[in-house]
Amino acid sequence: MKRIAVLASGRGSNFEAIVRAVKEGKIEAEVVALIVDRKGIAAIERAERLGVNWLFVDPSSFPSREDYDAKIVAILKHLKVDLICLAGYMKIVTPVFVDAFPNRILNIHPTLLPSFPGLRPHWQAIIYGVKISGATVHIVDKGVDTGPIVIQCAVPVSPEDTPETLSEKVLKWEHRIYPQAVKWFVDDRVRVEGRMVVVEGADYSKLPVVPALEDF
Ligand code: GRF
Repeated sequence: MKRIAVLASGRGSNFEAIVRAVKEGKIEAEVVALIVDRKGIAAIERAERLGVNWLFVDPSSFPSREDYDAKIVAILKHLKVDLICLAGYMKIVTPVFVDAFPNRILNIHPTLLPSFPGLRPHWQAIIYGVKISGATVHIVDKGVDTGPIVIQCAVPVSPEDTPETLSEKVLKWEHRIYPQAVKWFVDDRVRVEGRMVVVEGADYSKLPVVPALEDF
């Protein structure tokens, strides 16, 4: 049985979506731990409610981000994890972390990457005036939100959208595509060739959303 760890810094709704998919038997794996870098976050309450072990690793106890990541790597190795899911994890991971788990760390970002990486993604998308936004699950590399893309979904943006309303719309889809990506990894269906991620047997022909198209 594959072993998954989730790292989070806040609300933890994607963490919960992954755990639920496991509990429902849709993903044949075990979520062995939630690791958090902040105390008092909702993700911890969710872990307790869902019966997942959680662990707080205090960033202020380490002299550098690399030292912090070395500790995280040691914990993850000790737990013998096969897959690591960053889910609203607000730290930029260092090469110490990335090199320890090549092609084994996933992240979710709430835009259609490579558009609008980094902070305040929904605000960036709205200010730019895009008509379609979305979400992306990607493999973590040494850049910020730059790694090979595993799955994306498109979500229409309306002129009335605020970062809050857009975030709400996109989040519903995040909760579907992240467990899907995790399942593909757990089932060993993912092949990574450079930037290209190929999921064996996946149907790439479906067009998800075409917003505001009335006459054609
Ligand atoms: C999500 O929108 C995710 O895409 C982004 O941060 C948010 C985390 O939400 N990286 P949650 O903590 O999973 O509820």
